[in-house]
Amino acid sequence: MTGLSDSFQRPINYLRISVTDRCNLRCLYCMPEEGVRLLPREDILTYEELRAIVQAAAELGVSRVRLTGGEPLVRGDIVDLVAMLSSVAGIEDISLTTNGLLLAHNARRLKEAGLHRINVSLDTLRPERFQRITRWGKLEQVMAGIQAAREAGLHPVKVNMVVLRGVNDDELLDMARLTLSGEWHVRFIELMPFGSLQDAATCGEARTALQFVPVSEIRRKLEQLGTLEPVKDRLGAGPARYYRWPGAPGTVGFISPISECFCSECNRLRLTADGKLRPCLLQDKETDLRQCIRQGATNGHLQEVIRQVVTLKPESHLLDQGRSPLARLMSQIGG
Ligand code: GTP
Ligand code: 5AD
Ligand code: SF4
Repeated sequence: MTGLSDSFQRPINYLRISVTDRCNLRCLYCMPEEGVRLLPREDILTYEELRAIVQAAAELGVSRVRLTGGEPLVRGDIVDLVAMLSSVAGIEDISLTTNGLLLAHNARRLKEAGLHRINVSLDTLRPERFQRITRWGKLEQVMAGIQAAREAGLHPVKVNMVVLRGVNDDELLDMARLTLSGEWHVRFIELMPFGSLQDAATCGEARTALQFVPVSEIRRKLEQLGTLEPVKDRLGAGPARYYRWPGAPGTVGFISPISECFCSECNRLRLTADGKLRPCLLQDKETDLRQCIRQGATNGHLQEVIRQVVTLKPESHLLDQGRSPLARLMSQIGG
């Protein structure tokens, strides 16, 4: 096995799997409050189908899997899926991105099933604002989830703050200060445009342009607390760049898909809950793996299709040419 690489010589070793398009929140930048058409259950890949796909991908050299949603913890028996995937030879790193609401209940069982690490969305530290951004969530549940994940040994626990001008950008310093007093890993994320055909008012381009805050501006604000030093150890295998203040137990990370494009280091594919394999988060192109698997594809055939999708990976997204993904919402891809 020599491993997968795409047409731009990027090694591809990371698969993000959206296990459901459902979510128990409706974050402003991710999902409209009403009117999202959810997938019928029979369209969603079963755990057996997921295992077969991960096995094929692992034999091609994929060693990292991240489970996403929607919200992955609303899918029944998600712990069983983690256990199934952790027994696939070649998978060395299993992680999950969650809104944290159901984490307190699940953290220990996930760890025991083989989950290594976890990322939790946390856009604000203020309960009322949390409720406004998520439309009904309770901040205390997420905080309890983060605590439980730490106690369970899901290391590192990292948090994701999507920075929105006029909504939560007055909390940059408060979020960053967490890293001075404890082992918090706080990532500041630039807002990406999605699904403007489906819900222009919520997640579309016009709204995104108004709320977008570039990482350079975020970093400038944080440096009011002192000069940041780059962190050498890898805290993940994704696009974040990590820094810390000298002596701080935690780190801050920056994810800048738009202002400082990181596509040249892209290492991943995405599988949607209905079994479409996407070569790029920010382009609509997809290949139907579910159809292959339900027509009885062999492991070898699945590998062939995965290889083909890897060759379709674009060099970069095309947001700067005004081409954003229109066919799906973020909640239907999983980030
Ligand atoms: P690790 O580094 O393995 O912890 O994962 P991650 O940070 O990539 O995962 P997470 O699900 O926490 O994603 C954090 C943010 O990065 C989300 O806003 C994702 O949409 C974004 N992101 C992750 N991968 C990509 C990517 O390939 N391209 C772009 N444009 N954004 C990405
Ligand atoms: N832009 C950037 N990040 C987003 N996320 C969800 N929607 C967007 C968006 N439009 C983040 C969530 C979650 C991760 C999977 O993606 O906060 O932490
Ligand atoms: Fe990879 Fe597309 Fe993300 Fe760029 S935008 S890093 S090519 S998934």
